[in-house]
Amino acid sequence: MTQNKTPKSNRSDQVSFSSTHPVYQDPSVSIAARVEDLLDRMTLDEKIGQMTQVEKNSLNPDTVKQFFIGSVLSGGGGYPPENTPAGWVKMVGDFQEAAMQTRLGIPILYGVDAVHGHNNLYGAVIYPHNIGLGATRDPDLVYRIGRATAEELAATGVYWNFAPTVAVPQDIRWGRTYEGFSQDNRIVAQLASAYIKGLQGDRLNGPLSVLANPKHYLGDGGTTWGSSQMLFPIPPGYILEGVDNQFAFKIDQGDTRLDEAALREIHLTPYIAALQAGAQVVMPSLSSWNGLKLHAHRYLLTEVLKGELGFNGFIISDWAGIDQVSADYYQAVVTGINAGIDMSMVPYDYERFISSLKRAVEKGDILLDRIDDAVQRILSVKFKVGLFERPKPDPRHLSLIGSAAHRELGREAVAKSLVLLKNEAHALPLSKSAATILVAGKAANDIGLQCGGWTIEWLGQPGNITPGTTILSGIQAAVSSSARVVYDSDGRFEQLSDEIAEVGIVVLAEIPYAEGFGDQPDPSLSKVDILLIERMRTLCQKLVVILLSGRPLIITEQLPDMDALVAAWLPGTEGQGVADVLFGDLPFSGRLSFSWPRSMDQIPIVSPSLGGRETDALFPIGFGL
Ligand code: BGC
Ligand code: BGC
Repeated sequence: MTQNKTPKSNRSDQVSFSSTHPVYQDPSVSIAARVEDLLDRMTLDEKIGQMTQVEKNSLNPDTVKQFFIGSVLSGGGGYPPENTPAGWVKMVGDFQEAAMQTRLGIPILYGVDAVHGHNNLYGAVIYPHNIGLGATRDPDLVYRIGRATAEELAATGVYWNFAPTVAVPQDIRWGRTYEGFSQDNRIVAQLASAYIKGLQGDRLNGPLSVLANPKHYLGDGGTTWGSSQMLFPIPPGYILEGVDNQFAFKIDQGDTRLDEAALREIHLTPYIAALQAGAQVVMPSLSSWNGLKLHAHRYLLTEVLKGELGFNGFIISDWAGIDQVSADYYQAVVTGINAGIDMSMVPYDYERFISSLKRAVEKGDILLDRIDDAVQRILSVKFKVGLFERPKPDPRHLSLIGSAAHRELGREAVAKSLVLLKNEAHALPLSKSAATILVAGKAANDIGLQCGGWTIEWLGQPGNITPGTTILSGIQAAVSSSARVVYDSDGRFEQLSDEIAEVGIVVLAEIPYAEGFGDQPDPSLSKVDILLIERMRTLCQKLVVILLSGRPLIITEQLPDMDALVAAWLPGTEGQGVADVLFGDLPFSGRLSFSWPRSMDQIPIVSPSLGGRETDALFPIGFGL
């Protein structure tokens, strides 16, 4: 093992290596002193291990021991063989156990994307995706969702959440639009700060506090359609009409073409707010700025973020982000680490990363100072989050997962996120004692469709993938016993009677997607959905359409057929919140956080700072009846 000792300082609170209670293990000592003491004891291999994060499917606990791995993650759809709270505690705990058995016993940080609740865990409460939270404009609500999410994560030993996404999406064709709170960076900054404070709690080392991780720095929401270089084949089930090649990624991971003033004005603002809110980890974007990958961007990572903005936490790469910097992997590692990446998210081949990084240090292509800086940042965050004092979760907290209180919070969030876009002749609220209510659309009775991407699986999945209340069961629970609710997913009600029903409700949804698999050249309703609206129009007096989507959809031509239209975004597991508002127990209070285009030529929006004006959008940002 290579020993790289930095000179011992003369601090009086330092004790010798042979002591049974080394300084770094003493929580009463300052974090700076603990870091200094620990760093001083570490070999190059141990330091490189701290800079390495590996996906849990690519390693086992022994690997953690052998390579001193500093962090393990579950990628999208990453869950243990038994996807229960106990299964998670064991999975995370086994890695932790191994880390504790290393020479210095530095605990691992386990990270996941809990972007709308602890979403890979079966039975966790799934909250609306950020686009829906943006419509609530309610920082207190978002704070409480951050808190509840942290509680469910911490109960399973996960103290790091790769969230919030603080993108400022400018083009709704982007498959990550729904991860953003708004096209308006002020709304993003305000709600992201609230969420970060909620996740991290009153004190970061509290038993139920979790590290936030604003992402993806910088300009991920500003990429140009057609500029993506990612070669991901379109998966079956994703019909992309009018697309000229077979690859899914069109705008995700593309190039943001803006001058520096515009880049800062639109996209940097949320990071300034996130750092003020206490964010300790930042993830660079897989996209580029004017042709240069963010993972290679020393100016933006080191000079702007760490220098100018004074960020003293650490930078975690995105999924194989370093690999995209250069076709020559060694060069990619050198460039990425020298640009300022402190920890690399390595999905698969960690040995290649570790050996490349070690070679780069030995050859002098990466200075030991850079390594020490990275490790010092990582260790500081580990101490700040209290990891050495709470490497494993308190089993008493398991009852928080999927709790009634969290489900109530989800229901409240759903109700507040609904935006009423049309309400002809006071079609809504509905009467609970309407004689017959016809409900149509697969999405009326499908938890997976109402949750969207990043739910159990990376891309999400239709079906009853996790417990929750569907919109249909919410309606059934809300109406009085005299009302008759009839459901048919395809709207085949012709046989019911000759009389047309008083109320028809159609629930439509996009097929769940994530990242570039959701890049959509034509965000219009599908033909099947349009036919369903047309059929239902003939079967009822009042037609209410509820749209589940990760973005505004082009519905201009169908709008005249609807008496009422509700944008319900991707509400998550607590579908009762929809009925609460539909039947008037709660008012409609949501307002659009994105402008809703009339037609394709209003996409992308042009930000006011680039000379754009509010066009004659079908519904402008801020709209909501
Ligand atoms: C993982 C995701 C990751 C994606 C990146 C998937 O296989 O599950 O977490 O974001 O790959 O391409
Ligand atoms: C995504 C990130 C995510 C990571 C880990 C990447 O593909 O871009 O947002 O945190 O995977 O799942």
